[in-house]
Amino acid sequence: MAEAIRNLISILDMSVEEIDHLIEVADDIVANHDDYTEICRGKKLATLFFEPSTRTRLSFEAAMLELGGSVLGFSEASSSSAAKGESVSDTVRTVGCYADIIAMRHPKEGAPLVASRRTTVPIINAGDGGHFHPTQTLTDLLTIKRKKGELGNITLGLCGDLQFGRTVHSLIEAMLRYPNVKFVLISPEELRVPEYIREKLREAGAQWCEVESMEEVMPELDVLYMTRVQRERFFNEEDYVRLKDTYILDMEKLENAKPDLTIMHPLPRVNEISVKVDDDPRACYFEQALCGKHIRMALILDLLGIK
Ligand code: CP
Repeated sequence: MAEAIRNLISILDMSVEEIDHLIEVADDIVANHDDYTEICRGKKLATLFFEPSTRTRLSFEAAMLELGGSVLGFSEASSSSAAKGESVSDTVRTVGCYADIIAMRHPKEGAPLVASRRTTVPIINAGDGGHFHPTQTLTDLLTIKRKKGELGNITLGLCGDLQFGRTVHSLIEAMLRYPNVKFVLISPEELRVPEYIREKLREAGAQWCEVESMEEVMPELDVLYMTRVQRERFFNEEDYVRLKDTYILDMEKLENAKPDLTIMHPLPRVNEISVKVDDDPRACYFEQALCGKHIRMALILDLLGIK
C-alpha cells in the first residue's frame, strides 16, 4: 500500500518525538554540513506566497538550495493566476505536477489545509492568516533548545499582539507539551490571546498569567518572546496607531532582567525592540532567523522521506 502523504499544517501534526528528531537532524546539518549538500539533488520545492514574507520564503529557498535541490514559485498573489480568479485548489493541484513539495503562505485561515487535500505532494503551511505558523514554531523550539539546553523548565514571557500573532498561538500550543513551562502573557487588554488559547492553557493545567506591564514580570523571565502589532489584521487604523507602541523593549527595561535571558522575536520588527538591544548578548532574534533555515532543511528531508 502506498504511504500516506505527510503535510505540516499545524504544529500539533507533529509529535514531541518527531520534533526531537527534526531538532537532531538540524543540529547534524550544522555539524556535518558536507553530508547534506547533494541530498536533495533532483528534488524541487515550490514556494507559493500569497502574502509578503522575507524570512520564511527565503529560508525555505535557501534550505532547499543548500540541500542540492531546486526552487520555483511566486512571492505575491498578483504575479500568479490567483489574480485572474484561480482557486487555491487549482493552483496547488497544478503546482503538484511541477514540484515535489510545496510551502505555502496565504491570508485565509485554513487555505493550506484545503490545499493539502487537492495535491499529492506534501504541503507545508508557511502561515495562514492569524491562525498558524508551524515552521516558525519549529524555528522557535530549535532556538530555545539551543539557548536553554531543553524545552521544559522555563518561564516564557510572550509580549505584544497576542490576539493576532499566529506565531504566539502555535508556540503556546507546542510548549504546552513540555514539562514545567510557566507562560507569562504580556499584552494590552485589547490584544489578549484568543479565548481558545486560554481554554487550552486551562485544559492543560498550565501555570500561566496575563499582565499588562512588562517591567513587573521581567525579573522572572528565562525567555522573552516579543511580537509586532499586526497592522494587516486590524479592522481600523485608529486602533492600530493607539496600540502599536505599547511595548518597546529597550536597555532600561532590561536592567532587571536575568543575565541569561533569551530575547526572541519572529521578525519583522517595527518599533517593539530598540536597535540598541541588538548588541546585547541576550538578543537572539537574528540567530533565531538562522535556526529557521536549519529546521526547514530538516523538515524538507523529513517530509520527502529522506531522513
Ligand atoms: N517570521 C516570519 O514569518 O517572517 P516573514 O514574514 O518575513 O516570513
